Amino acid sequence: MSTRQPTRDDKFTFGLWTVGWQARDPFGDATRPALDPVESVHRLAELGAYGVTFHDDDLIPFGSDDAAREQHIKRFRAALEETGMVVPMATTNLFTHPVFKEGGLTNNDRDIRRYALRKVMRNMDLAAELGAHTYVLWGGREGAEVDTAKDLKAALDRYREGIDTLAQYSIDRGYGLRFALEPKPNEPRGDIFLPTIGHALGFISTLEHADMVGLNPEVGHEQMSNLNFTHGIAQALWQGKLFHIDLNGQHGPKFDQDLVFGHGDLLSAFATVDLLENGFPSGGPTYDGPRHFDYKPLRTEDIDGVWASAAANMRTYLLLKERAQAFRADPEVQEALTAARVAELARPTLGDGESYEDLLADRSAFEDFDAEVAGARGGGAVRLSQLAVEHLLGAR
Ligand code: GCO
Ligand code: MN
Ligand code: MN
Repeated sequence: MSTRQPTRDDKFTFGLWTVGWQARDPFGDATRPALDPVESVHRLAELGAYGVTFHDDDLIPFGSDDAAREQHIKRFRAALEETGMVVPMATTNLFTHPVFKEGGLTNNDRDIRRYALRKVMRNMDLAAELGAHTYVLWGGREGAEVDTAKDLKAALDRYREGIDTLAQYSIDRGYGLRFALEPKPNEPRGDIFLPTIGHALGFISTLEHADMVGLNPEVGHEQMSNLNFTHGIAQALWQGKLFHIDLNGQHGPKFDQDLVFGHGDLLSAFATVDLLENGFPSGGPTYDGPRHFDYKPLRTEDIDGVWASAAANMRTYLLLKERAQAFRADPEVQEALTAARVAELARPTLGDGESYEDLLADRSAFEDFDAEVAGARGGGAVRLSQLAVEHLLGAR
């Protein structure tokens, strides 16, 4: 079916580090050869993707000299031009090299923090040059295993200082980059700072350039904390902070699985796509940025499996989009939504111009209100849940 064939309009993007993951894990060696980023750009373009994203070190191996750096950038640029692929987002690797073992922007060692800032700024230059609008900050090494080994207040001060500095740099250079913080509870650190969407939103409100800083929530990261991803991105949207998104799959609280999108909690993925594609039932802010996949092809797969998994992310998304549209268009769903009074929540609790004095004077709101009758009424949610399951299973 044509709607299941990804096109550029679907805005599907992939990190170079996703398909390029050689499947090295803490217990075993790489199971796949290194992938040339130029090949990834071509293969992903053929599969229907819209763009790629990268960490500095994905494109330019750590420690490359200036001449080698220029060469890597030139080849990458040529691949983008040949394929029409774009780079909407870039980010910095502040986690692989041993220098970052105790953190980047929040390292106890001030020289390392200064080095980390310089590394980010250098890749922001490239990101802007390649036309990116979003700069992701995932602080995988910002955290601790031993609580007494970190001054937690100072860590948050330094995190804020770092991001304020980078925001000022983007403004002064006219880069137009906005920052998207990516929360994660743990892994690689025992405990990572800004572990959830909620923590990150609270932190952002303290920044000097809070308007330029939003979120890049990842499905699996919220689910590792046993949180509801769709609720998380809903709040980010509501606060105007959903700047980017990392789609993948996860089976509940355990290590970060980075499965193909939809290959974990499928009902949750359905709700996520329904929100991204159909918006809130009562309207309001929507997300129109890239649908970015941050997953890892299973370690068991060969290179053909890598491309099959990349295609699977996009196809699953499009199938869920189809299912979510069918769900919303189904008259029985409409009826079930009405029975569950879903639309009534969009109506303000106080009437137009009504004060709390008026509420106090309204006997029907309290004195004459029958809490027993209201409390006995069914919610109608199970019918909606079953209708969603039936649409998902293709039974409707
Ligand atoms: C992870 C993270 C990373 C980041 C990436 C971009 O758990 O490893 O999701 O993949 O998204 O580093 O900053
Ligand atoms: Mn992850
Ligand atoms: Mn991610």
